[in-house]
Amino acid sequence: MKNKQVTLFGASGLIGGILMKQLIEDPSISKIIVVSRRPIEYEHKKIIFFQMSFSDEKELEKSVANSIVVFSTIGTTKAKVNGDENAYRKIDFDINLSIAESCLKMKVDQFQLVSSGGADRLSKNFYLKLKGEIEVAVFDLKLPSAIVFRPSLLLGKRNEFRFGEKIAQILMSLFSFLFPDNYKPIKATSVVKSMLKISKTKQLGNHVIYNKEMVKDL
Ligand SMILES: NC(=O)c1ccc[n+]([C@@H]2O[C@H](COP(=O)([O-])OP(=O)(O)OC[C@H]3O[C@@H](n4cnc5c(N)ncnc54)[C@H](OP(=O)(O)O)[C@@H]3O)[C@@H](O)[C@H]2O)c1
Repeated sequence: MKNKQVTLFGASGLIGGILMKQLIEDPSISKIIVVSRRPIEYEHKKIIFFQMSFSDEKELEKSVANSIVVFSTIGTTKAKVNGDENAYRKIDFDINLSIAESCLKMKVDQFQLVSSGGADRLSKNFYLKLKGEIEVAVFDLKLPSAIVFRPSLLLGKRNEFRFGEKIAQILMSLFSFLFPDNYKPIKATSVVKSMLKISKTKQLGNHVIYNKEMVKDL
């Protein structure tokens, strides 16, 4: 890497939290700009914390300036927005697109976005359609390098309890052998491993990383 600064959005979440710790451990990274809407209870000399509302374009640009890779694992759930699809879209689509636009403006080498397995802008399912739409919008920006990760159901320890997700994790893990690799549940740590591996490559242009490629990163 020519420079050693990266920016991370989503550090308070499952994938983002693991990614932050892995970036700290990575000797090739010297500075991690962690951007969040609320304080992160984690301190380390490599971390510079930016708290913001995400609606301020200039603040966003400042947070990605001088970073070679920007990671976004930002997303919400239907339960968290009380089923409000507009509120859902404001997070999964609007925030992620604003981050990607800031990357374009500030000439960031690579932008990585965690989307979802099955993402498809033509899907009849609200969530998969939304994920498909943000992928297309990001790819349309024609960033130097845009990498979209499409994990299936995530496995990992959360700070919060999600009933539906827990049931799905138990059932899908039990019957995982029945699913094709693209639909098998995946450890959040495997997604992170894949993200870090790709962050060290010069993959120019738009790329989708499918679940079946990440499940190999155990
Ligand atoms: N759960 C799954 O099985 C699964 C499967 C495939 C794909 N995905 C997708 O993968 C991505 C990462 O998943 P995850 O489970 O790691 O996510 P997560 O644990 O739910 O974390 C989401 C992150 O987004 C941030 N966020 C949410 N609403 C925000 C807002 N209004 N403003 C600013 N930040 C906001 C959260 O910050 P706060 O802590 O401040 O809320 C948190 O850091 C998500 O896009 C998710 O949709 C999830």
